[in-house]
Amino acid sequence: MAAPKKLYIKTYGCQMNVYDSERMAEAMAGAGYVETATPEGADMVLLNTCHIREKAAEKVYSELGRIRKLADAKRAAGDRMLVGVAGCVAQAEGEEIVRRQPLVDIVVGPQAFHRLPEMAARAVAGGGAVIDTDFPEDDKFAAPRPKARRAPAAFLTVQEGCDKFCAFCVVPYTRGAEISRPAAKVLAEARDLVARGVVEITLLGQNVNAWRGEAPDGAGRWGLGRLIRELAEIDGLKRIRYTTSHPNDMDEDLIAAHGEVDALMPYLHLPVQSGSDRVLKAMNRRHTASAYLQLIERIRAARPDLALSGDFIVGFPGETEAEFEETMALVREANYAQAYSFKYSPRPGTPAADLPMVDPDEASERLQRLQALLGAQQAAFQESCVGRTLPVLLEKPGRRAGQMIGRSPYLQAVHMHADANLAGRIVEVDIVGAGPNSLKGRLAA
Ligand code: 5AD
Ligand code: SF4
Repeated sequence: MAAPKKLYIKTYGCQMNVYDSERMAEAMAGAGYVETATPEGADMVLLNTCHIREKAAEKVYSELGRIRKLADAKRAAGDRMLVGVAGCVAQAEGEEIVRRQPLVDIVVGPQAFHRLPEMAARAVAGGGAVIDTDFPEDDKFAAPRPKARRAPAAFLTVQEGCDKFCAFCVVPYTRGAEISRPAAKVLAEARDLVARGVVEITLLGQNVNAWRGEAPDGAGRWGLGRLIRELAEIDGLKRIRYTTSHPNDMDEDLIAAHGEVDALMPYLHLPVQSGSDRVLKAMNRRHTASAYLQLIERIRAARPDLALSGDFIVGFPGETEAEFEETMALVREANYAQAYSFKYSPRPGTPAADLPMVDPDEASERLQRLQALLGAQQAAFQESCVGRTLPVLLEKPGRRAGQMIGRSPYLQAVHMHADANLAGRIVEVDIVGAGPNSLKGRLAA
């Protein structure tokens, strides 16, 4: 039997890419590839790219420059390294990638990952780079998944694309229009995951709460609240999460589910981006600051211990100091357990890209102030958990011997001494300490 080939995948960006990388690794396993942790000596290197951050494409080109050296070394040893670029930069750049870096054998967009083995075979056969950035008719999700036992927490992509067209964002261009997978397919994939030991599923989508999937009987469509209720009926599925959401797609049923479905975890990532109505309008967010705050109030009425997370952009073109202060005021009122904040940077092709920028020093200074406030809120939330007993899903061994790492219902990492055999179990843990990004616990008696 031939020795397995080594596949190295580097994943950038969001959890959707983590899911896609997993599916690509599974697809390539069928072609005799096993994953390896480093690119050195790999038979295939795949960069699964993200386009949301600044200079995303440039970073991919410089990474490819580094990989070129490894590929040269491999060739000098009489062997070949296949190099592929996947994900949103592949989608956005297409053939340009091969023009700028002829090393690249495969360019595959996020909609075509299931075709990777066939593309790799064609690349090996020769005849130049193989490029597929189509939005194909066949269903990439339909590819069979191997039956190995899995980690206790898994991602499940239910929705892709975005129709919102926020003025700063590339997603509607790179990931295309919103598509919802049918409920029956999502439920079948979830049951299959649970049968293989998964107890927590995070439903993924660029705009996941806009999911409107065909109902199993073909009659009409379900919303995400209904889907979550059905998932909660699966025996053995103990935790459900979803990310990421737009405020305008939080419907009544989904809000109610937060109060009614025990398995739905009390954590919500609901980006607002800005607290200024003028800026929100310029961003094409299509909601006001007070509408967002009222929405949070309604969700907290359903689930009082909800831990709120969000995304913020400071220094959007035209943002004044007073408008930035409105963002600070919204943060004080909403109170975040966790958040991501970014300085605006233009993405070519988006409506905001041509607008005059805020002074960069001014924007950096605002970002610092916002991050100080968000950091203080996060620290307060972490601290508030000390003394509580929380159910923790044990996921993997920690760095020190005898240590395990798990997740609280609020998505906090929790470190404790526990037997590795407990992986996959949800255990009661006394929280005895808090750091900025993790908690320390002891197994409860
Ligand atoms: N500049 C800065 N941040 C951005 N994001 C998206 N596009 C931009 C941009 N052009 C942030 C938003 C989004 C998160 C995933 O990335 O806050 O919610
Ligand atoms: Fe981008 Fe999110 Fe706005 Fe969609 S809703 S355009 S993914 S920021």
